[in-house]
Amino acid sequence: MGCEDEKVSDWGKSLPVPSVQELVRNDPRSLPQRYIQLHGDRPVVPDMAMASSSSDIPIIDFALLAKGDEHETRNLDLACREWGFFQIINHGMPEEVLLKMKAAIAAFFELPLEEKNKYAQDGNNFQGYGQAYVASEDQKLDWCDMVFLITLPHEIRNLKYWADTIPGFKDAIEKYSKEAQKVAEEICANISLLMGMDKDGLKRSYGNTKQAMRMNYYPPCSRPDLVIGINPHSDPDIITLLLQDDEVPGLQIRHKDEWVLVKPIRNAIVVNVGDVMEILSNGMYKSIEHRAITNESKARLSLATIMIPYDELEIGPMECAVDEHRPRMYGNMKYLDYLRYTFARKMEGKAHLDNTLKIKSSSF
Ligand code: OGA
Ligand code: NI
Repeated sequence: MGCEDEKVSDWGKSLPVPSVQELVRNDPRSLPQRYIQLHGDRPVVPDMAMASSSSDIPIIDFALLAKGDEHETRNLDLACREWGFFQIINHGMPEEVLLKMKAAIAAFFELPLEEKNKYAQDGNNFQGYGQAYVASEDQKLDWCDMVFLITLPHEIRNLKYWADTIPGFKDAIEKYSKEAQKVAEEICANISLLMGMDKDGLKRSYGNTKQAMRMNYYPPCSRPDLVIGINPHSDPDIITLLLQDDEVPGLQIRHKDEWVLVKPIRNAIVVNVGDVMEILSNGMYKSIEHRAITNESKARLSLATIMIPYDELEIGPMECAVDEHRPRMYGNMKYLDYLRYTFARKMEGKAHLDNTLKIKSSSF
């Protein structure tokens, strides 16, 4: 395992784009062409209050799961197989930690642009304040500004991107990061059991991990039916914990060929299976495409905490996940190569997982 990998990866250079928050500040009706989605990609903006409750994503009681409750363990299995997404309640993360984290993100985006720019992305490694990776001039852009920070392990943090002028900013991340790590590890331990291993089975395979945070700010948009907050993608990680706004929905996941809105539950955390987990489990657990939509009246904040392996890790299906009923569905690839490929092909939703690693059925 690449513990010696002290420096942060070079993932290739992103094209610079303007701050969406500033566009809206200067003109609330501004809508440059690069944000207007092609017809087929435009969202049907649901009436948030009316969104049906029939397709709610699974809810897992984390306290029961951690105690080894059989019913909750089965629910986790089902959630990872059929949805790739679930919400956890009773996760033990103190409300105060969640509230301070949200307040820190809100305080950051309230800063004037010049202040935020002190923490701007400046190289190839994506950390700092800016926008999601932009590969081409033709790319449709996200209606979103963000901050990306590597948060664990401590030794690889780069504090120059951390807004130390905001009182409590660092402390809020510190506390949230620690709690999120505990929860992510417990979920992975339970998934290991479900895969027929002991609790450390997955950890032995992916080794030491890094944790990173993506703080998203989606400004209101005068035409939410024309733009996308974050374009459809799957997360190229092991597992993601998403803290979303309690009041303003926006996350949609693809389920049975429909976009299902994930309705916020106060203080719950949304969890999703990432591409690496899908590959390790040989496709048993699904890394599902998702996106965020915007609305006309309220800005929305969210925080994705991602658990990623080190660059040198060779990822491929674990032996326990391959048998005659479930032949090997993915080849092996170094994680860094997978990431590079993912970023270069960012425009194509989840197609990269299918194209890069998936072994075509004809090869059997
Ligand atoms: C992400 C993401 C969704 C949201 O940051 O990877 O999918 O609701 N965010 O902000
Ligand atoms: Ni995501």
